[in-house]
Amino acid sequence: MTTPASTRIVETDLDAIGEITGRIAVLIGKDGKLNAGARRVNKLARGALARMVEGGALEGMKSGEVKTLAWPVGLKAEAIDVLCLEPRASVIEARKAGAALGKLLGEKGMTVLAASQVRPVTLMQGIVLRAYSFTARKTGDQKALGEVTMMVSNADEVEAGAGAVRAVVDGVFFTRDLVSEPANHLTTTEFANRIKDMESLGLKVTVLEEDKLEALGMGCLLSVGLGSATPTKVAIMEWMGGTDGDAPLALVGKGVVFDTGGISLKPAAGMEDMTMDMGGAGVVAGVMRTLALRKARANVVGLVGLVENMPSDRATRPGDVVTSMKGDTVEVINTDAEGRLVLADVMWYAQQTYKPRAMIDLATLTGAIIVGLGHENAGVFSNDDVLSQAFLNAAGAEGEGAWRMPMGQAYDDQLKSQIADMKNVGGRAAGSITAAQFLLRFVQDGMPWIHLDIAGVASVKSDTDYAPKGATGWGVMALDRLVADMLEGGK
Ligand code: BES
Ligand code: MN
Ligand code: ZN
Repeated sequence: MTTPASTRIVETDLDAIGEITGRIAVLIGKDGKLNAGARRVNKLARGALARMVEGGALEGMKSGEVKTLAWPVGLKAEAIDVLCLEPRASVIEARKAGAALGKLLGEKGMTVLAASQVRPVTLMQGIVLRAYSFTARKTGDQKALGEVTMMVSNADEVEAGAGAVRAVVDGVFFTRDLVSEPANHLTTTEFANRIKDMESLGLKVTVLEEDKLEALGMGCLLSVGLGSATPTKVAIMEWMGGTDGDAPLALVGKGVVFDTGGISLKPAAGMEDMTMDMGGAGVVAGVMRTLALRKARANVVGLVGLVENMPSDRATRPGDVVTSMKGDTVEVINTDAEGRLVLADVMWYAQQTYKPRAMIDLATLTGAIIVGLGHENAGVFSNDDVLSQAFLNAAGAEGEGAWRMPMGQAYDDQLKSQIADMKNVGGRAAGSITAAQFLLRFVQDGMPWIHLDIAGVASVKSDTDYAPKGATGWGVMALDRLVADMLEGGK
């Protein structure tokens, strides 16, 4: 796994500043005042910082912008990164500012003079989140990132809050790696093995194999994998850190390790992007990792349907009718609308087995959500205003874009089939909503439920606030916060 840069929190030592190697980051607010650390850097660098401020270099600089003084005289550091950030910045501002520094983190590490900053841990989180690159499939020596040292006042107190943040970053990196992996490496078997490896963190992991899925009657899920050589699996991660007997929150993920579209084959252009079609399962696995690492006082179960959608002589045909675990039959009009077939059975199993207090599914479900919301927001579909508002609040607090979408009977009507209980696609209109309506048919009465369509946000083609282009890990932070807010009474 890609390991996050290591982090260290130490008490500010002004006398050590001259000897620091690597980069030094200095924080300056809009008033241009130099704090104690900055004054020491300025003195050692013979007034360079003061000249920078007086020369107007900071004018018009926005929160989170960085200007670099390279190879400063008087210091051993290779650069001084001057970061514009108010001492009392908001969580989102502090994290984004950290990400701007994270872009600059190199082999020799970085020391951040953060004594005046009220959110040093959040700043640190931004640095480490942004300093990610997926190099597992490159040969040659990969340069390891240097250490991030946060110089603060009250190092012990700051350290006490750092563990949970490190757990979050670890979960996000785990998700990003899964999403980045190509499908010949991340087969369903490899995915299940990586989940199984998390048993060492205290998660209880069960993997259901094809014979078991058949016995359970998961005809929808199994129909998706018929054309593939890699076997269909359901992997289950239990974290029962809360009160014994309390119903868990269930997280369900779409784990299509590659989506060719099946017999309803996708066009060649851009098909390689469908290595990320396991993004929902990736987020579920990442959140479960975070919860285990920070020993969350909550009961949460994560279930992922792992399958590959391939064309072959054995593959499901358009027009085939399959039977779900629930018992309802589905006419498969388009084999490329496979995600909902995967989720329907795993969601049903989750409800039957765990009687959860609520259920949230995540899936790279529709291209239509990208048409609607672009890459800025995931689509939020829900049958429960309270739960969905709690999620929107958590996502907002973490700076992860999420936008509620409507649902309703008229959309569901599009799923009527001539020969089966339903078909797996509606018409062209409102494709993301009809997909959500399909899922709602597999939500039991009274079960609070959210469906997150993350097709637009799981992997993107340009840098985001917290990640370089590619896999984002969107949702790990929001769901971790939701668990903290909803099940642990805030953190
Ligand atoms: N995995 C795709 C959705 C997708 C598209 C994810 C782009 C990420 C980026 C999904 O399985 C799919 O193919 N959906 C179809 C549904 C259609 C056939 C009703 C789509 O969106 O075109
Ligand atoms: Mn598809
Ligand atoms: Zn898909």
